[in-house]
Amino acid sequence: MTAMRERPIGVFDSGLGGLTAVRELRRLLPHEDIVYFGDTGRVPYGTRGVDTIIRYAKQDIAFLLEQKVKFVMAACGTVSSTLPAEFSAALPVGFTGVVQCTAQAAAAATKTGRIGIIGTPATIASRSYEAALRALRSDVQITAQSCPLFVPLVENGYFNADNEVTRLVAEDYLKPLQKAEVDTLILGCTHYPLIAPILAKVMGRQVALIDSGRETALCTAALLREADLLRNDGHIGTAQYFVSDSTESFATLSGWFLGEYAGGDVTRISVDHYPADGGISQ
Ligand code: DGL
Repeated sequence: MTAMRERPIGVFDSGLGGLTAVRELRRLLPHEDIVYFGDTGRVPYGTRGVDTIIRYAKQDIAFLLEQKVKFVMAACGTVSSTLPAEFSAALPVGFTGVVQCTAQAAAAATKTGRIGIIGTPATIASRSYEAALRALRSDVQITAQSCPLFVPLVENGYFNADNEVTRLVAEDYLKPLQKAEVDTLILGCTHYPLIAPILAKVMGRQVALIDSGRETALCTAALLREADLLRNDGHIGTAQYFVSDSTESFATLSGWFLGEYAGGDVTRISVDHYPADGGISQ
């Protein structure tokens, strides 16, 4: 039996977005193996109903548990805002979503207390980031904006810094945040760091952008260290990618994005038959 420490870290998202966390994990923890699942056959999650998002997330987690992961990271703002805490607490391995870690970083970064949040419709409707921020700092003024077009734009490769279509969409979505003069902007969806240069250009250099993928990778590394679950055998970490749709476009786009950190095959799987209760009986 593989020792717990030697097992991979499991990461999932509806598609490419979670790779923003994988890139950071590979940099922070080069000795760890990573199993990534991108549910590209069912992306986007953020425009769906809560019941559907929860069912999809539980099936994704069941797949990762079958891969014998030692930890599950929901590298998805939508799942993190929707999955009931009782479910993640009952998992047989450690778990983190992105909301808490990202809110902590934003609360620490803001000087004026004016924080903007952008996310998918489901994330913004859940008010998850707002609740986490208010619990950390009662004086914050929050402006939240749902940005439903960003995920399809990213999944279709519209993330180059000079992409005019994405810039025009960003200018429209970010207007209320500019008006509110936020000094900190939470990229509350893990797809958004892929268009961070465009968002930075629109918001201006004075606004700090908080990358949920990056912050959650930092949290995951700290949680694994605390639990004494990091490898200490000098192993060179690998990454294995699984998707629920064509491997071709994912391989191209992810390779473009992960660059030297890609290092792993992409395999297509079907996730529909995985148990809708995540394979754990509560
Ligand atoms: N990366 C996911 C998130 O962080 C995107 C969700 C979606 O598929 O709409 O919210």
